[in-house]
Amino acid sequence: MTTTASRQTLPALPHWQTEPADLAAAIREIKPALRERIEASGRSVEEAFAAVESRVLPRVREVVAAREAGEPVWPTIDYDDIAAGTVTDEQRELVSRRGCLVVRGHFEREQALAWDAGVVDYVERNSFFENYRGPGDDFFGSVGSTPEIYPIYWSGPQMEARQSDRMARVQSFLNSFWRHESEGRQWFDPERDALYPDRIRRRPPGTDSGGLGTHSDPGTLDLWMTSEYQQAFRHLFDGDVEAYDPWDAAHRTTGPQYPGSTMCSAFRTFQGWTALSDMDHDQGVLHTVPVPEVMAYLMLRPLLHDVPEDEMCGVTTGQVFPASERWHADVLEALTGIPDVRAGDSVWWHCDMIHSVAPVTDQRGWGNVMYIPAAPWCPRNERYAESVREAFLTGSSPSDFPAEHYERDWSGRFTRESLNETGRRGLDLA
Ligand SMILES: [Fe+2]
Repeated sequence: MTTTASRQTLPALPHWQTEPADLAAAIREIKPALRERIEASGRSVEEAFAAVESRVLPRVREVVAAREAGEPVWPTIDYDDIAAGTVTDEQRELVSRRGCLVVRGHFEREQALAWDAGVVDYVERNSFFENYRGPGDDFFGSVGSTPEIYPIYWSGPQMEARQSDRMARVQSFLNSFWRHESEGRQWFDPERDALYPDRIRRRPPGTDSGGLGTHSDPGTLDLWMTSEYQQAFRHLFDGDVEAYDPWDAAHRTTGPQYPGSTMCSAFRTFQGWTALSDMDHDQGVLHTVPVPEVMAYLMLRPLLHDVPEDEMCGVTTGQVFPASERWHADVLEALTGIPDVRAGDSVWWHCDMIHSVAPVTDQRGWGNVMYIPAAPWCPRNERYAESVREAFLTGSSPSDFPAEHYERDWSGRFTRESLNETGRRGLDLA
């Protein structure tokens, strides 16, 4: 552990660039340090948190009111408008406000259905179901011996989608909501994506699923404890919570992340997936708390004095960041599901936002998606790209995921020769 003061006038913050050996001790050390720093602004922690609430809770109420009035909460934009540059200012404003988006017709429906069939063909011809060894992690819960999450990364359909012009266009549009240059630095390149490889979900008709509880994905204790995140959240920790901008990438794209079985080494502007089947809104779909500023609430809530001094509202390393009724009930009221989507639509949400997957009983129709985020080129993603490149060339599971390596000797894997320029740039392969 080392201590530095980023500004002369403010109390220094201890920081841990790798996971602290004694988490409870580190928490007991960081919390008073953060409070002292906030209080140097002349505001108590309670006052700073109240200021966050006054930013966030009206937005929560706005979402609840819209939902109860039957108005759409999730913005939807046609791919054709993104491609033609005819997205209106009102549409942009709503994406910025809600932090999420459905892109209608991102891919032709027939293309998405053909990709879905292509995935089935790829796994069947390689006897995946016969050789499936069960979930490699418990992130999505056990679903018995039939896989729901396919730990498959290198099929033709996935790589074709990742390196497609249509995907690059939407990722560039999404990246444009972020401030990527400041302090004389470019924090990421909005026009180059790192092709973050992730899995496939194929959930069959008739499925009973418990869903996935409310959580956030950007990190765990590192969000309070590494010097980079302390700078990224500087306005919160300096007590100037009004200046906090959830779309500012400064200091977010360079630092380390504490390891964990559910980690994402990459910086993602948006998490996302592309639908490979039609899905109705009541069939166990994705929900978010569509208020990006809620991150300020999540970050300051553990500093209030009703939270035990060695706890961070349930956040710990090696587990997903939970959003709970116990600590975050006021903002969870805004949890809202996506509208009906069709194969070829894509769904996106700001990387910090609370999300969940609703439970479903006797699911109607398939629930099939390819997880493809927007992960623009930056120091963090360049570091991770090295292991991605190796995984791609050998058909291995990427290092963020369980080491299952099903595809190493599979036939029909996407090959280096099939990369286009976007694919080569994304993997940094000449
Ligand atoms: Fe998640």
